[in-house]
Amino acid sequence: MKTFATKRVLVTGGAGFLGSHLCERLLADGCEVLCVDNYFTGTRENVAHLLSHPRFELMRHDVTFPLYVEVDEIYNLACPASPVHYQHDPVQTTKTSVHGAINMLGLAKRLNARIFQASTSEVYGDPEVHPQPEDYRGCVNPIGPRACYDEGKRCAETLFFDYHRQCGLSIKVARIFNTYGPRMHPNDGRVVSNFIVQALEGRPITIYGDGSQTRSFCYVDDLIEGFVRLMASPADITGPINLGNPGEFTILELAEAVIRLTGSRSRIVHKPLPQDDPKQRQPDITRAKTMLNWEPTIPLEEGLKRTVAYFEMQLDLQRLRAAE
Ligand SMILES: NC(=O)c1ccc[n+]([C@@H]2O[C@H](COP(=O)([O-])OP(=O)(O)OC[C@H]3O[C@@H](n4cnc5c(N)ncnc54)[C@H](O)[C@@H]3O)[C@@H](O)[C@H]2O)c1
Repeated sequence: MKTFATKRVLVTGGAGFLGSHLCERLLADGCEVLCVDNYFTGTRENVAHLLSHPRFELMRHDVTFPLYVEVDEIYNLACPASPVHYQHDPVQTTKTSVHGAINMLGLAKRLNARIFQASTSEVYGDPEVHPQPEDYRGCVNPIGPRACYDEGKRCAETLFFDYHRQCGLSIKVARIFNTYGPRMHPNDGRVVSNFIVQALEGRPITIYGDGSQTRSFCYVDDLIEGFVRLMASPADITGPINLGNPGEFTILELAEAVIRLTGSRSRIVHKPLPQDDPKQRQPDITRAKTMLNWEPTIPLEEGLKRTVAYFEMQLDLQRLRAAE
């Protein structure tokens, strides 16, 4: 039986990596969850374990088209997140960010619902300041191959703030930095999944450039905690708020950690750096600390162990299916 207190929450992109963890968390918090996804990069398998849950509903829908549903809160995550996927159909990527934001903001306006935007550290482009605070305006190439994503997300932020100023909508904008964990895509070129899969399969580990470029890696459970805290924060906290792990590692250090944790005999090979690849990226999370009392708690080593365990299971499943 439905109680009046049950909050109905829409998660777009809910069958993706982050979305599936968010759906899990919201169900655990007692919400009704409507997961909307067009399965471009997400899968039904990511939420298969939730399908029988009485408060979970899954809907195939493309956010570039209007959506008419009744909910109390919206988390807008729909958008391919890795360069291989977002560069596959760049026009569709911009449409997903921009039309998707317009459609979801329109829905939020009609329902007077609070709305959260999964923005990205990519809005900072190839930053000239380090680490990046939220008031840094970024250094983005508007015509490069990453622009469909970077500029799409920047425009989405603009739309969120214009709806907030113009219509009084309650908005929450999170700028997400590199996040990893179970249900990442095995072949999307993101560095953590790439390295783990290469190591588990005993293939060479590919590093672009000399490996001295740095990244920060946030474990998915930490990030989702940040999402939920931001959504529940007072209305005057609109963001943008950086969410990520400030611990900085070189790509070479990451490769070495993965080799150690998988016990792999893979060797490291170097390839040329792709165009517009940022040299450094690290969040300044002072705002998240002070406004949300949030900071990551799961060390890289621990998060990597859990992620390796997930990919080991996936590879075992693949081998079993192939043998059938
Ligand atoms: N994972 C990260 O490190 C990271 C970093 C910064 C920002 N983000 C943002 O977080 C969100 C989720 O990223 P993720 O890592 O889970 O990626 P993901 O690719 O696993 O998830 C994105 C989901 O959106 C769905 N989707 C794509 N286009 C759609 C459309 N037009 N209509 C409906 N659904 C659509 C995909 O099928 C997928 O399920 C994205 O908006 C991404 O930009 C992620």
